[in-house]
Amino acid sequence: MKFKGQHILSTKQFDKNGLLAFFEVVKKMEKVLEDAVIHGKQSKLCEGKILATLFYEPSTRTRFSFETAMLRLGGRVISNFDMLKTSSAVKMETLFDTGKVVSQMADVIAMRHPEVGSVAELARFSDVPVINAGDGSGDHPTQGLLDVYTIWKEKRKLNGLTVGIIGDLKHSRVFHSQCEILKFFNVNFVLISPKALSLPDKFKKEIGKFVEVEDLSKVIDDLDVISVNRIQTERFQSEKEAEKFRGKFVVSSSIMKKAKKDAIILCPLPRREELPMEIDNDPRAKYFEQIKNGVCVRMALFCEIFGVTV
Ligand code: CP
Repeated sequence: MKFKGQHILSTKQFDKNGLLAFFEVVKKMEKVLEDAVIHGKQSKLCEGKILATLFYEPSTRTRFSFETAMLRLGGRVISNFDMLKTSSAVKMETLFDTGKVVSQMADVIAMRHPEVGSVAELARFSDVPVINAGDGSGDHPTQGLLDVYTIWKEKRKLNGLTVGIIGDLKHSRVFHSQCEILKFFNVNFVLISPKALSLPDKFKKEIGKFVEVEDLSKVIDDLDVISVNRIQTERFQSEKEAEKFRGKFVVSSSIMKKAKKDAIILCPLPRREELPMEIDNDPRAKYFEQIKNGVCVRMALFCEIFGVTV
């Protein structure tokens, strides 16, 4: 698994040993981040580098996380968070030209787009590495990395864990990325969703063995990892269609009473009713820790892409 000078477009680029080695780099980044946040020591690991964030789809975490990662490493950022409305995409500029042009100015590009494959399309024409920050219902490789890093950090292992993946498994690129990474480890997959939102066959083939259920309460006491995500309303034909599935799975405090004492709850956020605020104070809730881990994962990725040794 080599990152130096490479585009990061898909979780398919990762492998087991490479992931474990990468997680060790992320761990070092936790120290770099702590030095910056607590001791005011600015890292210069990416001094002189410029990140361009091109977002054709809304984001709170991912864009800020990439930008924070670059800033914490001493680099700088140029950003457009509304490419569909305020870039020359409005004037029918092609992804070819956007990739070619932005790569004359930035050293690395992080891009999000609503269409599967569009980030890879822009990357074909970019002269600098491009990172997929989410392409439609396709892939979200850095989210997958930070989710699995959080499990590895919290549980101190991956092999042998029982991982429940709960919600809209059909459309969630986060779940698709999680499956593609967790498949390298000997985890027991429990897929929890309404039948109409079940994991696409291509991912089922990748993970091999799994259990599928519709009712979270039937399996909650088996789970070491409770990975939940919202209904991806933006991927449905209409909001009304999505509403049919709302409230079918809720990680409530009453259901958490039946969960293991050392289980962990993950969520990429944003959340809706599936993750009520009542469990934010449950020590098993790790979704805000995930945010900090995400910054460290992206810091590590920049260092690897630029060949910077920590
Ligand atoms: N987790 C995640 O991708 O969040 P945003 O959509 O806010 O970036």
